[in-house]
Amino acid sequence: MINDLWYKNAIIYCLAVGTYMDADGDGVGDFKGLLRRLDYLQGLGISAIWLMPFQVSPHRDDGYDIADYYSVDPRYGTLGDFVEFAHGAKQRGIRVIIDLVVNHTSDAHPWFKQARRDPKSKYRDWYVWSKSKPRGANRGVVFPGVQKSTWSYDREAKAWYFHRFYDFQPDLNTSNPVVQAEILKIMGFWIQQGVSGFRMDAVPFVIATKGANVAKPREQYDMLRRFREFLQWREGEAIVLAEANVLPQTDLEYFGDDGERLHMMFNFQVNQHLFYALATADTRPLAKAMAKTKPRPATAQWGIFLRNHDELDLGRLTPAQRQKVFAAFAPDPGMQLYDRGIRRRLAPMLAGDRRRIEMAYSLMFTLPGTPVLRYGDEIGMGDDLELPERNAARTPMQWSAEPHGGFTKSARPHLPVISGGPYGFEHVNAATQRRFADSLLNWTERIIRMRKEVPEVGWGDFAVIPTREPAVLVMRYAWRNNWVLFVHNLDAEPHEITFSVGLDRESAKSGDELINLLSEDHSRAGKDGKHSLVIEGYGYRWYRVGGLDYLLRRSDIDQE
Ligand code: NOJ
Repeated sequence: MINDLWYKNAIIYCLAVGTYMDADGDGVGDFKGLLRRLDYLQGLGISAIWLMPFQVSPHRDDGYDIADYYSVDPRYGTLGDFVEFAHGAKQRGIRVIIDLVVNHTSDAHPWFKQARRDPKSKYRDWYVWSKSKPRGANRGVVFPGVQKSTWSYDREAKAWYFHRFYDFQPDLNTSNPVVQAEILKIMGFWIQQGVSGFRMDAVPFVIATKGANVAKPREQYDMLRRFREFLQWREGEAIVLAEANVLPQTDLEYFGDDGERLHMMFNFQVNQHLFYALATADTRPLAKAMAKTKPRPATAQWGIFLRNHDELDLGRLTPAQRQKVFAAFAPDPGMQLYDRGIRRRLAPMLAGDRRRIEMAYSLMFTLPGTPVLRYGDEIGMGDDLELPERNAARTPMQWSAEPHGGFTKSARPHLPVISGGPYGFEHVNAATQRRFADSLLNWTERIIRMRKEVPEVGWGDFAVIPTREPAVLVMRYAWRNNWVLFVHNLDAEPHEITFSVGLDRESAKSGDELINLLSEDHSRAGKDGKHSLVIEGYGYRWYRVGGLDYLLRRSDIDQE
């Protein structure tokens, strides 16, 4: 049954084990700590956890530099602790997906060590070499300002090696069938440990042709089908959620025309235009981005997010649009990163304005796709701009007002917990917020519950309903004869809007009645069939279309 596609309507929560909860008191979060927090996560209502890399690593790129794929880094526990955690999650109905970082390894990986030491090693061809310095060595760096080139000379190998990211992350030669077989083996290993899939790192680079003579890399999309087939054979419910910040015209290459490649991709196009809309209160480019990313196979899904563990990448906006977002949310150059992004958390970007924060999350939960929440966002955590690069937004979870936010009993957490000021753990923490019905934490829990009751967002077909007001976005979803409608005002000022739900007025569900799912403030259309409403600054409304028998119709959905 198509309903079985769990990822079409899930709530994903991403976290790094090392900054979540430290149970053994060494200053680094661990699987035992995470296990203790599963009840909290279940209470929040999430349905899947995405774990950032936790395998053995020198940690020069927060674990995205793996030195052993079949392991758990001892600072986080043992493989046994991982399995205990995975079991605990399963018992609570929470799925686990993990990062799959196979574009590159760490230079400390034994494969690379052998490859550089011995040209005859079987691992030599697992990496990408050149005898002389390739022409484009200074092009294509991902981290401008901190990364100088994409090729570095290795004295031991007496050759140049390719690295799309930092020089300590040599690229795997992913075109090599032996490397591909190893990637499948890694997937198979973790599937066997009970994970429900992978957030695949840097997918466009994984599938790109690589080499000194490659002037313009070509994507080998079919590789994605092979990954998927393998997964599906091993475990039917496993998915790949791809990190692929690509242009809309290639989306279907990634999903596959018939959905035979990736199950999910993060919608970077919508993400960047969403931030433009938040910055300018002009939702038109966002509506365009939604339209451009609309085509997708029925089984495919977008991951919708606000902030993630990286910089907020604005590289797909025009320079003028990007400057507007910088001016609104990162006016200080120290808040910006890599000439294209912002290294802040959402709450401080929105100046801690609760109405605006709620509206932004309400949008995240109702844009077409599956929402992906980042740990700490449910309590409105801030950032620490004193920390280098992306670490600013990677500080430990703030659990309570106890020392170090209750994250650790150690006097020296590996990353400092945010302390003092409006976002310090003294004020912003889960324990305090749990006690207040109106806290952001409890709001998030309620909105997640409501999101689960509108499966139309995950499954349905959407339309942006025109109003004359660019600051207000009205989205309508249809699925199995049910309709929901969402209104968001991205402006600080109230706006009056008039719109028609756009359904056949003769049908039972004419759209005359809009039942507010979050308050008593329902809407009835005028004689002309149009709804008029005044929506307050940063306001949001969730409506179910139809008469008061809508609950009955919901049960129709369940029975179908
Ligand atoms: C994307 C990850 O999100 C980022 O954190 C990392 O630095 C690069 N890929 C390299 O793995």
